[in-house]
Amino acid sequence: MQYAFILGRVYTLSIAELLVVLQEELVEHEIPYKILAVSIEALVIETEKQLDHEKLQKRLGGVIKIVKIIDVVKKRPQDSINFALQNYFKPSKLKKDFLKEYSGKKQFGVSLYLLDPSIKGFGEPKRLGMFIKKGLQEEGDSIRVCLPDYNSLSLASVVVTKNLLLQKGAEIVVIAGIEKVYVGKTLVVQDFEDYGRRDYQRPIRDEKQGMIPPKVAQIMINFAHLSKNAIVLDPFCGIGTIIQESILLGYKAYGSDIAKFAISGSEKNLEWFRNRYKISPGKYKLEVSDVANVSKVFKDEKITGIVTEGFLGPMYSSFPKDADIEKNFKDLKTLWLSAFKEFKKLLPKGGRIVICLPCYRKDTDDYVPFPSVDFITELGYNIEDHFLAAHKKLMPFLKLTERNSMIYDRKDQVVAREIVTFINN
Ligand SMILES: C[S@@+](CC[C@H](N)C(=O)[O-])C[C@H]1O[C@@H](n2cnc3c(N)ncnc32)[C@H](O)[C@@H]1O
Repeated sequence: MQYAFILGRVYTLSIAELLVVLQEELVEHEIPYKILAVSIEALVIETEKQLDHEKLQKRLGGVIKIVKIIDVVKKRPQDSINFALQNYFKPSKLKKDFLKEYSGKKQFGVSLYLLDPSIKGFGEPKRLGMFIKKGLQEEGDSIRVCLPDYNSLSLASVVVTKNLLLQKGAEIVVIAGIEKVYVGKTLVVQDFEDYGRRDYQRPIRDEKQGMIPPKVAQIMINFAHLSKNAIVLDPFCGIGTIIQESILLGYKAYGSDIAKFAISGSEKNLEWFRNRYKISPGKYKLEVSDVANVSKVFKDEKITGIVTEGFLGPMYSSFPKDADIEKNFKDLKTLWLSAFKEFKKLLPKGGRIVICLPCYRKDTDDYVPFPSVDFITELGYNIEDHFLAAHKKLMPFLKLTERNSMIYDRKDQVVAREIVTFINN
């Protein structure tokens, strides 16, 4: 069986997360898988087992759609995608393999993802859509087609959900390589409404300190490779995003923060979350504490992993002065030094710590990063490299920093987050 995972915008993070989750959900259950194709947009795998796509989609913060591949069609490098598929979408094929039985007007959408940047996709979804629609109409079917906007090749998961494509027909997904075209249908899309609820509907928000987006929190928690009964600690928990997401992923979570306001915000938010998501009691514990004392506060607990956004220093709306950057890094070095000394007392050997360090965004892919983290590794930690040498060869487009970490940024933000995973050795 073949599946494609459609990747989020910060695709390096999406791929790193997917590799962890496929390892835990497939390989560790003796289900091998093979990567058939990968680009900055999609990763296609082959495996013997049928995937629990709903469960996988819920676990993955960085994947926006999971697609079942129905066929692989050969293509000559010089041919357009629509030429290669001209005889493929027969009405009988569409009815048998793609479109859901639906008594009303059927709806389908077309999305195109590219496996190589040299492939020309402009106008292709429209041509494919019209072509499919025409074939079906000749059969006498009443059908509506949903196409990407003029300047895009694919439908956003919001559009797939809002148009009920998966209920009333299908989203047909074409993943085009130079010599092969994978054709499939979407099984599930990321539940954007639920992520929005988990972010914006919480009773307490803290715009001043900032909050980590739930999707990014989820990716970071997955990076910690936690076992079933794990306990996650966030010692800079703010208003509780990482605590909430850890519980949703099935773990217990403890949070602490130096600010009373943050802990009372976390309490209110987690009470709301527990009711909204029917979470049984006893899944979390919250304490006011400076990170410098956190080992005393949780000394009797078996913490398995530490996942935290940490403190990023001041937020800026324009690029800060060099002197300010230098001061922020110096202050943070002192903070992280005391934090990692404490973490040593709490974590088992092999336990992971996933943190964010600030880096200042000058331009696309141009940042002033946090300086050396040798002061952490000298305490007895290694930085995890999320990719094997073979992965790096297969995916030369991965965006990794010199210390093999990854950056999550947004165009409108000066302070980006560098996500680094440490292993306690
Ligand atoms: C960026 S916020 C964390 C936000 C959190 N990830 C969320 O989504 O709500 C950083 C937090 O670190 C806390 N903090 C700063 N210095 C600290 C210290 N020395 N010990 C513990 N917490 C600290 C701040 O009070 C703040 O709540």
